[in-house]
This record gives sequence, C-alpha cells and structure tokens, in this order.
Amino acid sequence: MLKVGLFGLGTVGQGLLEISRNSKLPFEIVAIVDRSYKKKSKITGNIAASDNPSLILDDNDIDLVVELMGGIDLPLFIIREALDKKKNVITANKFLLAEHGFALFTKAQDNGVKIGFEAAVAGAIPVIRNLENIFWYEDISLLEGILNGTTNYILTKMRTEKKEYEYALKDAQKLGFAEADPTLDVSGMDAAHKLALLASHITKSWIEYKSIYVRGIENIRLNDILWTEKAGYRIRLISRCQRIDGKVYLSVEPSIILPGHYLWDVENENNAIVFQGMYSGIHMFVGKGAGSLPTAYSVLSDIMHITQGNHNPYLMHNFVWRYNHPGSVEDKESAFYMRLLVMDEPGVLADIAKVLSEHSISIASVHQDAPIQISDHPVDLILITHKCLRKSLQTSITALEKLNSVKSVPVFLPIDEN
Ligand code: HSE
Repeated sequence: MLKVGLFGLGTVGQGLLEISRNSKLPFEIVAIVDRSYKKKSKITGNIAASDNPSLILDDNDIDLVVELMGGIDLPLFIIREALDKKKNVITANKFLLAEHGFALFTKAQDNGVKIGFEAAVAGAIPVIRNLENIFWYEDISLLEGILNGTTNYILTKMRTEKKEYEYALKDAQKLGFAEADPTLDVSGMDAAHKLALLASHITKSWIEYKSIYVRGIENIRLNDILWTEKAGYRIRLISRCQRIDGKVYLSVEPSIILPGHYLWDVENENNAIVFQGMYSGIHMFVGKGAGSLPTAYSVLSDIMHITQGNHNPYLMHNFVWRYNHPGSVEDKESAFYMRLLVMDEPGVLADIAKVLSEHSISIASVHQDAPIQISDHPVDLILITHKCLRKSLQTSITALEKLNSVKSVPVFLPIDEN
C-alpha cells in the first residue's frame, strides 16, 4: 500500500482525509504536518501528526508527498526536499508552480520523480491530465477559460441578484471560494497562475505568468452588469491563450461575451475551459473550480495516476523546458465597451468623440442614463466602439482622462466574438 504524507490540513487537506477514510483506496495517509495540528487532533485521529516537516520528509517509508499548505516559502522548501529525496509530489499550489515551476519540474525530471498538479488548475476539472495524455499531439490554436470561481461567483451574483461588487465579494468569501488574500482572485492573478500552467502545456514551453496581460474585476460596478444584461451580453473574467503565426498571446481580463459563446452558461463558482484543436475540434470542460471535496478529488486522482505507474509526459517526452516570450495583446484588435465617469454638461460628448476620432476609433453606440435635470455629480457614460487596436484605445483613454469634463475611465472591456 502506498504511503502518503500530507502537508496542510486546511479546506482541501481535510477534504482529502475525508475521502480517504470513506473509500477503499490503495493508499494510506500515514503522517500529517500542519501548523495547528494540536487543535486538529480530533480530525487527525490516530495518524501521526506534527508541525515539523521532518515527520514526513525524513520518513523513508513515505513514497508520496501531498502539499496543500498554500503560501510560497515553506511549501517551496518542502517540495524541493521531497524531490531531492526522490518522493513524488502532488500540489494544488498554482502560485508556487507559476512562480517556481520551471526549476521544480526540471528538478523532478532530474530525480526521476513526478509532480502532479491537477488540483492546481480549475479545481476538480481534469484538464491537465487530458492535455498531457489525449491532447499532447494536438495543435491548440485557442483556449478560453473561466479559471477563477470567486470572480465568476461575484459576476453571477451581481447580475442575478443585482448586488453591488463589495456585497457579492463578501458572499464569495463567506462561502470559502476566495484565496486567503482575495486580491489574488479579484485582480485576475490567480487565474493568470492557472493560465500560465495551461499555456505551458499547450505551447510545450515555459510561460511566465508575469508575461500575461492581466486585469481584474475590481472596477466593475452594478451599472456595467445591468447595461450589459440589457444589451443581451454578459461579463465574464476570461483567461485566453491564442496562437497566431507561431506567437502566443495571453490575457486574463473581464470581457463581454455574446449569447452562444461557450462560456455563456458557466455560472457561480463553476470553472470551464474550452479549446480548439486543429484535428479534433472544439472541447469543453466544466466543473467545480474550488471547494474542499472537489479539489481534494483532483488530488486523489493524481495520487491514483502516479500509483498506477502512469507517466507524466514531461518525463515521457523527455521534455526540455525553454522559455516562451508571448506577443503583445496591445497589437490586437477588438471592439470595446467603455464606461466613462463624466460631468453632465454641454459639449462633453463632442470632446470625447473628438479624442476618439483623433485615435482612429469609431463609435458604434453611446448610452447615458442621467436625470433630465443637469446633475452636479459625474454620471456614467457608456460607449461601444467598433473594432480598433487595443493600443489606440489605451492611448485614447489617457487622452480622455485629461479632459476637464471626464473624471475617469474606470472600465473598458473587450467584446469577445469567439
Ligand atoms: N480562489 C480560487 C477560485 C480557488 O476562486 O477559483 C481555487 O483555485
């Protein structure tokens, strides 16, 4: 029977313990390391527990280490040590892998062991295994995903319950979907960590998450959601990997999608990934992107995979990592939604139209819901542009924000026509 050492008895760790106790599995959790192991003695029961990593790292009978602690420094030390001791490692820590994966995967390869990380990308969805096995030889030109449950939950609740952003965020935190620091979720960084790992598979090269164009949902307000809903569209935080003429373009940003888009019906904390293979066509995976048992199940499936002696292609293909430098999404075209905060006075629209025309941006529609009486307060002005270069849009925003009548341009969203 395979002996497993578990680091971290938080939400996912407890889920794994629960599943391992309820099912007849060919492995056994024999040791647990957790900062608060004393307080959790009822949960650990008769399994050896400590706050000292050597309980697991120095036990030669432990074949496989599961790291579910979160954070960077301590888990990095633990994973390095475990790999050096030729123990297989499974982790759900996407931040750590996105930051240090290049070195860790190389170390695993050098030591003839494996790193399983199915749980690190989109929780319960088995996308990594599928990309590694079934789709390894596929030429994937486009991948789009909803890779963060917290933000998808917030955007869904804002739309369906007409809640402002901060209330919907509090609900997501209460339900335990958010990272310890929700900034990683709402800023789009958590999704960027996951996209970097997916894009590395697709391109068979190492993608630095810092090279991804990332914008979060912090500035989206109920008004953006209501207008989009009225116009028959939806806003989703879309992670995108597109390959054009040998270059890869990567972004995570709130985007407008149209009815019929594959990600249209993916609601609440669910995650989804849709990709286009040159030979096999379109594939879509949907499922729970967060939560104790769903994420723990992915860890379990990695344990089973490694136990059954299946190989990770990083070893199978004797993969040599090389860095990939993505193209700039600013060179790409899209139609855009923009919300401007403007003074409600004569000539404002003319000033804005002039700036946009100077940047060769054509306006498709304009919308303003202001009271008939001129207000002293800034009001929201919503503009839809025809297709234009993102670069031009961004320079036009800088120019617009210099106008006396424009207070700010808090939101711009590409309209995704895929
Ligand atoms: N905070 C993450 C999310 C959890 O909301 O999707 C899983 O990575």
